[in-house]
Amino acid sequence: MKSSLIPKNIPYGRYVLSLISFISISLVLFLSYYPKTNTVEPEWLKVFPTLIATFNAISAGLLIGAYIQIRKKNIGVHKRLMLMAFSSSAMFMIVYVIYHSLKLAPTPYAGDWQWIYYLILITHIPLAAATVPLALFTLVKGLSGKIEKHRKIARITFPIWMYVSITGVLIYYMLYL
Ligand code: HEM
Repeated sequence: MKSSLIPKNIPYGRYVLSLISFISISLVLFLSYYPKTNTVEPEWLKVFPTLIATFNAISAGLLIGAYIQIRKKNIGVHKRLMLMAFSSSAMFMIVYVIYHSLKLAPTPYAGDWQWIYYLILITHIPLAAATVPLALFTLVKGLSGKIEKHRKIARITFPIWMYVSITGVLIYYMLYL
């Protein structure tokens, strides 16, 4: 493999990544739940659930692709697909925050699968928060060439991230389609 993109030892690296995770999660919670200043939802907000689900679906697809590639030992392609999955999940977070900071009330689930819906939602939320530090640490271990550590944490990150992306699409499907 070519030389690592980032140095092996970043001073206070784990604290910096923990702080970034903490700030990102707090920001999402704050912007989603602080009292709204708007009294009407803008018309263009209607497209956001579809955007949110699309970024989740793209992340899920890229994760599967990256996994297949690493099984075939294609490290370069694995790396690029993972960077794309990370960007797609970052876009999801931005769009999610804009949506929830303007949405006046949560959309209630009106279908016949109440307990399945809430089971998915209750597991999706904490695992989505856990994905933030897990993905950051996995990415940095990979990019800095600490491959043994990368593999160890990636085995936890991968299924959780996958679950969060797929349930993100399912939630959208159950609420809006
Ligand atoms: C958050 C992003 C990433 C995730 C979730 C991820 C996930 C994985 C997974 C699931 C494995 C297989 C682990 C195993 O069972 O052995 C793996 C291996 C690996 N990944 Fe990543 N990866 C990510 C980013 C990267 C990046 C950016 C690089 C940079 C080069 C990279 C390089 C590697 C390498 C070299 C291996 C080991 C290949 C081998 O077995 O020889 N990964 N990764």
